[in-house]
Amino acid sequence: AADDKFVIEIPKVELHVHIEGTLTLDLRWKLTQRNGTTLRLIPNGPELKSLDELHASMASIMPEASRMNNDEERDIFFESYFEGFQALKTKEDFYDLAMNYFEHAAAMNVRYCEPFFDPQGHTSRGVPWSEMMNGFREAQTDAETKFNVKSRWIMCFLRDLSPESAMEHYKAALPYRDIIVGIGLDSCEEDRPPSLFEDLFGLARDDGFKLTMHCDVDQKDTPEHIRQVVSVVAGGGTDRIDHGLNAADDQTLMDLILKRDMGMTICPWSYLRHTTYAELGPRIRTLYDAGIEITINSDDPAYMDDCWILHNMLLAKHLCSFSDKDVAVLARNAINVSWAEQSVKEEIL
Ligand code: ADE
Ligand code: ZN
Repeated sequence: AADDKFVIEIPKVELHVHIEGTLTLDLRWKLTQRNGTTLRLIPNGPELKSLDELHASMASIMPEASRMNNDEERDIFFESYFEGFQALKTKEDFYDLAMNYFEHAAAMNVRYCEPFFDPQGHTSRGVPWSEMMNGFREAQTDAETKFNVKSRWIMCFLRDLSPESAMEHYKAALPYRDIIVGIGLDSCEEDRPPSLFEDLFGLARDDGFKLTMHCDVDQKDTPEHIRQVVSVVAGGGTDRIDHGLNAADDQTLMDLILKRDMGMTICPWSYLRHTTYAELGPRIRTLYDAGIEITINSDDPAYMDDCWILHNMLLAKHLCSFSDKDVAVLARNAINVSWAEQSVKEEIL
């Protein structure tokens, strides 16, 4: 629509996207064919023999997988998300995965991004660090020259695995630290509070990394998890919060976030599937109106009906009745709370 022109064209910064969550079905099929891997949508599911079967199979689980409303739906989402990892083996695969994202990003005028990656989901399958990181590195370099999309990586730890595993991976990644700007925490949040990873995040901060953590929406202990992320871990809180939408229901949390000037990465499409339309708009609007620097992002586009950052910005605009001026504020928030070098920030402004 003509009134979406401003959103389409504005230069964007994306701060919450799981690179493995951008593995489109077409690319997954291509990699599977290239490597001769067995293709399934979920562990122990039926083997899929064609791209059509893959599409049909995804369509059949999609509502449950992308909703993440109750335990069962959340399990299906994580099962299908991690099963997708199986397609990624060689440096070329990681290169293609990242390049596919950067290309989509460029088409939506994303100029800078900080994608997450989940190393534990790859090392556990025997993928060497060098294949993963060199694939990412080459794609990052090529995306900058070919697409004018700059990037830095955020290494996420899977919170359902042990803090010891996270620490081992942290140390193993240090040879690649020149392309890693920050450390994050993701995966299934149930009974896995941020405080479990206190030592690791404290160390990472001392080592000069930026810090962020997921606080998924409407989980059992979400307010307490947000409180820890905002004011406890790493001696006073992380640098950003991923999601954290429940803060909108709690003035004390919003005050803490404001006082610390923390950015929040909001991914509307993810929540649309597990909150109602009527609830979602007001919650995002509350954070925005409180003056919190929220940003709009895509999370796992390949698992969310192929909705990338542009679709999420359009959704936010419609849900919250944002004007073009508000959209410009959101885009500027993302530049402000990004961990890009000052010169890169100025280039985008
Ligand atoms: N990892 C990938 N997508 C995720 C999500 N939506 N929540 C938590 N961890 C994730
Ligand atoms: Zn996420």
